[in-house]
Amino acid sequence: MESYELEALARVTTRPAKEYRTLEVAPLTPVIGAEVSGVDLSRELSEEQLAEVKEVFLDHHVLVFRDQVLTQEDHKRFAGHFGELRPVNPPPPEGDPYVLEISTTAEAANVAGNGWHADGTADVEPSLGSMLYLTRVPEPGSGGDTLFANMHLAYEMLSPALRSLLDGVTAVHDGLVAFQGQTPPPGYVVPKSEHPLVVRHPETDRRILYVNRAYTARIPQLSSDESRALLDMLFDVVPNRPLLSCRVRWTPNTLVFWDNRCVQHHATYDYYPYSRYGQRVAINGGPLKG
Ligand code: SIN
Repeated sequence: MESYELEALARVTTRPAKEYRTLEVAPLTPVIGAEVSGVDLSRELSEEQLAEVKEVFLDHHVLVFRDQVLTQEDHKRFAGHFGELRPVNPPPPEGDPYVLEISTTAEAANVAGNGWHADGTADVEPSLGSMLYLTRVPEPGSGGDTLFANMHLAYEMLSPALRSLLDGVTAVHDGLVAFQGQTPPPGYVVPKSEHPLVVRHPETDRRILYVNRAYTARIPQLSSDESRALLDMLFDVVPNRPLLSCRVRWTPNTLVFWDNRCVQHHATYDYYPYSRYGQRVAINGGPLKG
């Protein structure tokens, strides 16, 4: 690795470990993800617990809470502590308008999120985060893991020359890109917006490489060929650098909360013909600035 890559990595790996009064926190890797225990999300959290959960979220970006027995109302109440809930787009035909069912069976082998992406980046005010609660995992007890990648570090490990080019441009995100030429479902309001290609995290001010293959269409300051080549290179940063990501192995009744501003995720479909079921609630964020 180049010295600038090692320096960026060391800034993350040498952070002093923190002590928490109300939670136990076990990092999944040195750069992303933590299992959080000592908290029952079916009950109202104390102010101190909530403040600590928010702190761990900013430090680790992906939080895994196991053995939680939650109603839809518990799930929504916990999410509501972080911001307004986002209605599902397109609205579900029945059920709660804020709850997206994530369901895969052998008969309906559609797998939401089976590719690297962040949720809601084409919106003018992109999502703060998502909470996915799985109650059914593939029967053999494995498969269907979700991968998460740290997009702060993805940016920080790029060369200084490339970072200074990226700091000065924007990117257009378009909700149609994910459909790859197919017609979106009825009722889908196609989001489209332009964000700085490198945004700053609204709460920590840390920079983020903010492009993803599912939604980012082009860099308007570049020619179409330049834009395509640069975007393809940036989309490959995560798959080409395994150290950026962690892998969450689901067990029934696990809730995972991730930060859509600085994390990309990828649902793995390695469990056909088995089934997997859960519900996802997403939280509104504000506009993103460079
Ligand atoms: C998604 O939100 O993209 C789905 C993630 C998953 O099912 O693991």
